[in-house]
Parts: sequence; C-alpha cells; structure tokens
Amino acid sequence: MREAVPTLSRLVRDRGFLDSHILPLLQETEGAGEWYVAYRHGDRSHTLQVFAWLPGSATRIHDHTSWGAFCGVVGAVLEERYERLDDGSLPDHARLRKLWQREWRRGDGISTVLPYEDGIHRMSNPTGELAISVHLYGPRFGEIDGRDYDPSRDYVCDRLED
Ligand SMILES: [Fe+2]
Repeated sequence: MREAVPTLSRLVRDRGFLDSHILPLLQETEGAGEWYVAYRHGDRSHTLQVFAWLPGSATRIHDHTSWGAFCGVVGAVLEERYERLDDGSLPDHARLRKLWQREWRRGDGISTVLPYEDGIHRMSNPTGELAISVHLYGPRFGEIDGRDYDPSRDYVCDRLED
C-alpha cells in the first residue's frame, strides 16, 4: 500500500501509459450513464485498472476485499465515503453514515481505501464530460471482490465479480 501511491503517481505522469491507455478513451462518446474498465493488468499481488466514467455514471456504494489507490486523470470523479455504524452481526444488514465527499481531478493527489469497512465508497461522474481514473488494487483478503450496500434499506450483500 505504501508503494502504491508513488507508483500510481509515476504511472499517471508516464507519457507512454497516457498515450496507449488514456488517449484512446477520449474518443468515447456513446453510452451516457455507464462506467467500464477500459484496461486491466495485474497478477496475484496487484491489479492496475483504468476506469472510464461516462457522464452521469455511478457505482453502487461498495467496499473491496483489498486495499486500493486511485486518482483522476481526465475530468472529475466524485468520491463519497461512508462509515459503517453497526457491528456486522446481523446477516445482510449494514447501517451507513456518509463521512465526506470530494472530487478528484488530475493533480489532486491520490485517494486510498483499506479493505472492507475501512473503504466504503461510491464513485460517480456527475459532470457532463467523460472522466477517467486510474486504480491500483492489492491482493484480495477474501474469496469475494467486495460488498455492495444499499443504505435506503440498511442492506449489504457480497459482490462476487468486480
Ligand atoms: Fe471502489
């Protein structure tokens, strides 16, 4: 995790990386409301992913079973961060409280999440322009990819695939 931040900082300044993995995405104009993984590379120890966020797209509120670090490279992605208020003892039940939100643009630094409850967040692109972010994830600490939350009904469930 300590190495992730400088590694990611270096990578998103690398001309070759930007030319091969970011520039082609700037042609994307279709599919408003969707986000997708445009590039993925990794092994057991880490995974690098480039996310493209079309205008209006958003993830569910979720966590990961690994640490993660990400930064904005094109446009702005909004991150909303939550904390869990219950003790996790009831199945499928989770009570959340929003902690903060902020936009991440190129040069804003790097956001980091820790596994499970220490990195509950939602990512979105509330702007009218394409946004692109680059993410580095560590090894999974569990079988699942993470969990998805629905605070409108205090619900949580496992997420098998990323
Ligand atoms: Fe995430």
